[in-house]
This record gives sequence, C-alpha cells and structure tokens, in this order.
Amino acid sequence: REYDYLIKLVIIGNSSVGKSSVLLRFSDDQFSESYLTTIGVDFRFKTLNIDGRKVKLQIWDTAGQERFRTITNAYYKGADGIVLVYDITNSTSFEDIERFWLNEVESYAEKDVELLLLGNKSDLSDQRQVETNMVSEYAEKKHMDFYETSAKTSDQIEQAFLSISKRLMSK
Ligand code: GTP
Ligand code: MG
Repeated sequence: REYDYLIKLVIIGNSSVGKSSVLLRFSDDQFSESYLTTIGVDFRFKTLNIDGRKVKLQIWDTAGQERFRTITNAYYKGADGIVLVYDITNSTSFEDIERFWLNEVESYAEKDVELLLLGNKSDLSDQRQVETNMVSEYAEKKHMDFYETSAKTSDQIEQAFLSISKRLMSK
C-alpha cells in the first residue's frame, strides 16, 4: 500500500490569519509576504513518517471570506481533524473562534472530530493582542491541542501537524 494511514484535515478561521501560509509552509516549505486570498477551497497532500508508519495527510485549505461559506461548510463532514487558526496580532480573529468557528464545527463536522488550535504569526510578537496563557487554558478546557506558529519562520508548524496526526493515529 501507498500509506498506512490517510488523515483528512480541514483548516478554518478568519480571512488573512494565515491558513494558506501555514499549509504552504508545511507542505512545500515556502512562504510569501504577498496576500492572495483563497477562493473557495484548495488542498494539498503531505506524507509523513511517524514511528515507522507512512501517514498521508490530505489537507483542505478553506477561504475565510464569508461569501464562500456554503462551499467550505461541505468539507467539514469528511474531516478527521479540524485546524482552527487565528492571528495573535488580531484579537477579533481569536474571539471569532469561540463566537463563530466552533459553532460551525458543531453544526457540520463529525462529533468525534479532533481539534487543533493555532495562534499564527508568532513572529509578530511586538504586535501581539492575544495572550498565550489565556489561550492555553481555553484550549485545555475545550480539549484542543494548541500551538503558536509562524508560517514565516516555520516555528511550531511541523510540531502542530505531527501532534494532531499522532492523536488521530492513536484513536
Ligand atoms: P484567506 O484565504 O483570505 O482566508 O486568508 P488566509 O488565512 O489563507 O491568509 P494567508 O495565508 O493568505 O495570509 C495572509 C497574509 O498574512 C499574507 O500577507 C501572509 O504573507 C501573511 N502571513 C501569514 N502567515 C504569517 C506569519 O506567520 N507571519 C507573518 N509575519 N505574516 C504571515
Ligand atoms: Mg487562504
């Protein structure tokens, strides 16, 4: 067989928090400063070797923009894991995780879906609006894995995807 595990993930969160950038860093080890908003849904594959097993990740990158919601909602159903992304320099993007995105997950995803919370743009700590400790406690309460990442510097990107993959493999 081509792989031992196939894991389907969907990335959601407000527009411009860096969903596509996180995925591009993870899949191709690339980063671009220019902002190209996602239209509808995009996807990439990435194969990891985890404890000697071949794990194929199929990762759907959704548009944060509201006008694409009906398209993007349809992808939640088949997901093993959902990656919720906010931007540490934008407090609204974090507040919307609780206010909006988790309700979307509740409405459209499988009940036992694994959740990963990413506070992206950790390289911009001088512009930080969302405190790490507060989110840590929040994530623990909600049984979500939590990492602060930077698509720009690569910080914690691999670790985050590795972590949700391992959690799903041990289910
Ligand atoms: P939509 O597709 O519109 O939903 O946005 P998105 O969440 O996919 O955001 P995208 O990845 O397109 O990034 C938006 C902007 O933020 C781009 O200009 C990126 O270069 C920038 N960006 C993304 N991640 C980081 C990061 O970790 N650090 C910094 N400094 N900039 C980032
Ligand atoms: Mg995008």
